[in-house]
Amino acid sequence: MNTSTPRRTDDWGADFFGTINEMPPEPISLIIQILEAMGTEPGFRGARQTLLRELGLAQGATILEAGCGTGTSLPDIQAVIGSEGRVTGIDPTVAFIDAARRRVVTCPYQNETYEIGDIRALSAADNSFDAAFCDKVLIHAGPASVALGELARVTRPGGAVGALEWLPFFAVSSRRPELVARYNGLFRQAVYDYEVSSNLARHLHAAGLTDVRSQAFLAYASSLDEHPFWRAFLIDQMPLFVHVGLLTAEEAEGLCSDFLELDALGEFNASFVIQVAVGRKPA
Ligand SMILES: C[S@@+](CC[C@H](N)C(=O)[O-])C[C@H]1O[C@@H](n2cnc3c(N)ncnc32)[C@H](O)[C@@H]1O
Repeated sequence: MNTSTPRRTDDWGADFFGTINEMPPEPISLIIQILEAMGTEPGFRGARQTLLRELGLAQGATILEAGCGTGTSLPDIQAVIGSEGRVTGIDPTVAFIDAARRRVVTCPYQNETYEIGDIRALSAADNSFDAAFCDKVLIHAGPASVALGELARVTRPGGAVGALEWLPFFAVSSRRPELVARYNGLFRQAVYDYEVSSNLARHLHAAGLTDVRSQAFLAYASSLDEHPFWRAFLIDQMPLFVHVGLLTAEEAEGLCSDFLELDALGEFNASFVIQVAVGRKPA
């Protein structure tokens, strides 16, 4: 039985990722494409694979992913816990849970459950899982202390809790530094907790976890087509930022042409930092 689920309080917050259920289908399908690309981009994927290894799970373990999105992590989780393991994913976005359920049908093992849920008030009972984690969620919804407290609550004593976050600050080649400053600045405005990636160890400690270890990873590309993530995120997504008023159409056009021209000249490169932290629930 769930004995200690925190109730909604005034400090709960979220950015646009908390409102996707109210959006029309077109931006949702673009966001789904970007999530798929993020899921396999080598920097993000290497960080997630490290997080999953650091959870120290055995084959057959049970794991919760809170804020699972479309379930892009499923192959990496299954590589760790095998065919006897059990994966539970929760996310508040209906279109993402539908996509995750479609993914399960094509998957070699069938031990996954994807349900609507909120990381800040999980429906699972205390001590239900061997491990729990979240990947690119705390930047969008929180507070992190409540979310990680919930992951700790549903993890068994001796189990592990992990989080992956990134700092959306692109070190990107450009002949328009003023536009790159506008671009990087929009994320500080748009996301719920811009600084969370640098504070994962602190938040895990506050959630009562011990033996906390953290690591940093770099996502890097020297061409817009090195991986689908880069063109999807830096070019295809730009109209959304204009639509919500974070950039003007001229700024977006200026950035896109600059990135595309530098790419054609073989002078494009871009990078950003990802952080992972894992802690253990005291036995
Ligand atoms: C950037 S996506 C990451 C999705 C997935 N973890 C991945 O790596 O592909 C952020 C996710 O957080 C989810 N989200 C937003 N508010 C949430 C909340 N209160 N509880 C749990 N997930 C939430 C969104 O629906 C979205 O799926």
